[in-house]
Amino acid sequence: KEYNVAILGATGAVGTRMIQQLEQSTIPVKSLKLLASSRSAGKQLQFKGQPITVEEATPDSFAGIDLVLSSAGGSVSKKLLPEAVKRGAVCVDNTSAFRMEPDVPLVVPEVNEAALKNHHGIVANPNCSTIQMVVALEPIRKAFGLKQVIVSTYQAASGAGQSALNELKQEAQDYLDGKDIQDDAEILPTKGDKKHYPLAFNLLPQIDVFEDNGYTHEEWKMIHETKKIMLGDMNAKYIKVTATCVRVPVPIAHGETVYFTVDDPSVTVDQLREALKGAPGVVLQDNPAHQVYPQPLNAVGKRDTFVGRLRADEENPGSFNMWVVADNLLKGAAWNTVENAECLVKDNLI
Ligand code: A2P
Repeated sequence: KEYNVAILGATGAVGTRMIQQLEQSTIPVKSLKLLASSRSAGKQLQFKGQPITVEEATPDSFAGIDLVLSSAGGSVSKKLLPEAVKRGAVCVDNTSAFRMEPDVPLVVPEVNEAALKNHHGIVANPNCSTIQMVVALEPIRKAFGLKQVIVSTYQAASGAGQSALNELKQEAQDYLDGKDIQDDAEILPTKGDKKHYPLAFNLLPQIDVFEDNGYTHEEWKMIHETKKIMLGDMNAKYIKVTATCVRVPVPIAHGETVYFTVDDPSVTVDQLREALKGAPGVVLQDNPAHQVYPQPLNAVGKRDTFVGRLRADEENPGSFNMWVVADNLLKGAAWNTVENAECLVKDNLI
């Protein structure tokens, strides 16, 4: 069987990578439609060496489409994906629009591929920071159980889209040219909020908007998506999760310090290493004697999640620290989306 595929948001930071990941995937593509806003209609992009003209996305764009990969923002997904489903397509959505709907599987194939079979036309891709964290934690949870996670993120600008990446580069240039960059910001920390601050030579402890309890929505996502992916219930109590999310002036690839507590307090770092070695999607880069540890610069363009700096909390048996890095646009977005689609094809779920 071959599939008629559409990419919604094909011109964006994630969408352009979805095209590349689809090129390199095992999915047999009969035709590919590239959809974006009216601003991009007529623009040409390449797929397997052939030019494809970008079209404005409308409900009728999805007639005859079997598979939709989407990353054009939550409001666009909310409006257009139900139209695609109505026309018979299965959608893998990278936005947060449907992640917490009970009948929408939220899937990282290395962790909960089996949940895909419960889809009703839409599969959600988790938040980028959540994906790389659960890829690293799942082999540990499987082997030793998991009680608590305390994560701090160091998130790249590209997580907020191509325009945020452009903004960071412009600010950095202006800063080096000796200009005042306070007025440069129009997008970060988050487009939808009232105030904007420069990211270049700075740190912004705000990703997405604030909730009433003082957490940002990004932090909320890390807490509740982790529970839905690992335990099948966004409000599950068994694994306690808390998060602090920080935007850093890195273009691509998120870092995370993950502090976690396993069920069995006698577990050693060597046992953790064994569990992580060869785990799906994980590359262990952990050799302090040779200063080997994951770095964003080295993770760019890779599908893997890199784990290092594994060490025990010597004052709390059963608790550990680790450092996790992945390309937020690939494993955090485009690759996880295409990987979910590959699994849907493999499991005959389209
Ligand atoms: P366009 O390039 O035409 O604006 P990013 O996450 O990098 O900001 O990319 C967002 C993607 O979503 C782009 O491909 C963008 O297309 C697309 N997009 C934005 N608004 C719409 C819309 N109303 N309908 C379809 N696609 C949209």
